[in-house]
Amino acid sequence: MNDLNRREFLKFMGCSAATVWAVSCVSKSPLVIEAPKPALPFAPIGPNREDILKLADGFRYDIVLRWRQKLNARGDLFGFNNDYVAYLPFSPTNPLEGWMWINHEYHDPYFVSDWRPGQPRTMAQVKKERKEVGGSICHVRFDEDRWQLVENSKFNRRLDAFTEIPLISDRPILGRKTAIGTLANCAGGVTPWGTILTCEENYDNFVGEAVYKDGKREIVDGDGYLSWTKHVKLPPEHYGWVVEVNLKTGQAKKLTALGRFAHEGATTTLASDGRVVVYSGDDSENEHLYKFIAREPGSLEQGELYVADIKNGRWLPLSRAKDERLKRAFSDHTDMMIRAREAAKIVGATPLDRPEDIEIEPKSKAVIVALTGIKSTQSPFGSLLKIEEKNSDPLSLEFQASTFIPAGPQSGFANPDNLAFDKKGGLWMTTDMSGTSMHKEPYEQFGNNGLFYIPLHGPEAGRVFQVASAPRGAELTGPCFAPDGQTLFLSVQHPGERGALRPEMASHWPDGGDAVPAPSVVAIRGPALEALTR
Ligand code: FEO
Ligand code: CA
Ligand code: CA
Ligand code: CA
Repeated sequence: MNDLNRREFLKFMGCSAATVWAVSCVSKSPLVIEAPKPALPFAPIGPNREDILKLADGFRYDIVLRWRQKLNARGDLFGFNNDYVAYLPFSPTNPLEGWMWINHEYHDPYFVSDWRPGQPRTMAQVKKERKEVGGSICHVRFDEDRWQLVENSKFNRRLDAFTEIPLISDRPILGRKTAIGTLANCAGGVTPWGTILTCEENYDNFVGEAVYKDGKREIVDGDGYLSWTKHVKLPPEHYGWVVEVNLKTGQAKKLTALGRFAHEGATTTLASDGRVVVYSGDDSENEHLYKFIAREPGSLEQGELYVADIKNGRWLPLSRAKDERLKRAFSDHTDMMIRAREAAKIVGATPLDRPEDIEIEPKSKAVIVALTGIKSTQSPFGSLLKIEEKNSDPLSLEFQASTFIPAGPQSGFANPDNLAFDKKGGLWMTTDMSGTSMHKEPYEQFGNNGLFYIPLHGPEAGRVFQVASAPRGAELTGPCFAPDGQTLFLSVQHPGERGALRPEMASHWPDGGDAVPAPSVVAIRGPALEALTR
């Protein structure tokens, strides 16, 4: 961050901006002389290119769950490419044992079904791939100084691309009230009533996309590397939703009221009247930021969807009753939710640089959005966007938007993706430079993807410190703190992604040698994390 940006940042955080680099938010009596404390309890690492999960001194990790780990007696296995992680303790008095939800975003057919580019795919291979995506519910416990799966617990189960999931909508969608499976599960959220939200993002890679034009519907095929469209007809309109899952029962439902698009995540907050507000980004180039206001407390099945006009600071309603243009364009509310992207453009939503994860700053209640950036544009590195709702009220339809922290060489990171706040209000962020960008200009200087710590208060406020560097080809995703703040759960996703096609990205993490890479969830602990969050 340059001096001007940091001055603005400190002003927002409530600090005096008189001296930019030596300012502290903590007021101290002038009579008290304190021994100088080290500003941080760890020395940050720099960019790294090794095929390891490298951590700064003072942090250590254990693997909690890994690809193809056996979950239960039925033979369910932990899926591939774990992304979002949520941990819900069984009870407030027993925070060290609970349910963990983990998204499995996509399969890499090279590893999961032994498919080789150029070969035709068999139905048996597609079936294998459909078992690898969706999510896992895992009973985990902190035992013998580490977090572990409670093997064969009655709670352990998989949701995958075969699981039947009801569509909560005003009418059937393409004649069905149930979708087959969930897939492309990227980030998510947790509701105040203890269910989780898992978000279907790049579903079109798997099942193609339905394009509506001149009253006709056409299917555009998916990504040749991941697509199942030649083997199974799964209507694209059954995917791209936010899916609510009860971790105790495994029951799931697709919430069509939150709109259909490439949902990165779904970040919830409680309004003063007890209703829940959900923020969600559409992670595609020049797509939009949405806000959903539930109709009643305790449920997300019905409510109003809005989309952000960033320039004018307004949330624009996607309501056929309030807007003749929307009434003309869509046959009913369900039609409009299916084609939410089209509706957003009709009302004048602002195109954004791929909105990813969203978190709410605990003190100010500002909504922080990771804009991951768009290669070959004026924003190849992205930024963190700040949305300040009028009167800090999530029900407000007016807001102010500004850049919170710009990414790039001046900040030391590129392409922010996931965010999490720790117990002390420090911001943790992971990055996702794509496998085809990493180690090439202009991204070369950043090394592998990483995990970064950004204090928002104190002498180092607004500075960006790298804590971890991912194995080759991987991104670190799904940062999630255990309730005591002393463990950071983190996904190591797609080590060696398409490494078979790009040998320089090949990975053998975590086993090393010639081993096939294994996406895994790790628990990061250690004295540095304790000192930061105590
Ligand atoms: Fe799946 Fe937007 O990252
Ligand atoms: Ca993501
Ligand atoms: Ca998050
Ligand atoms: Ca990602």
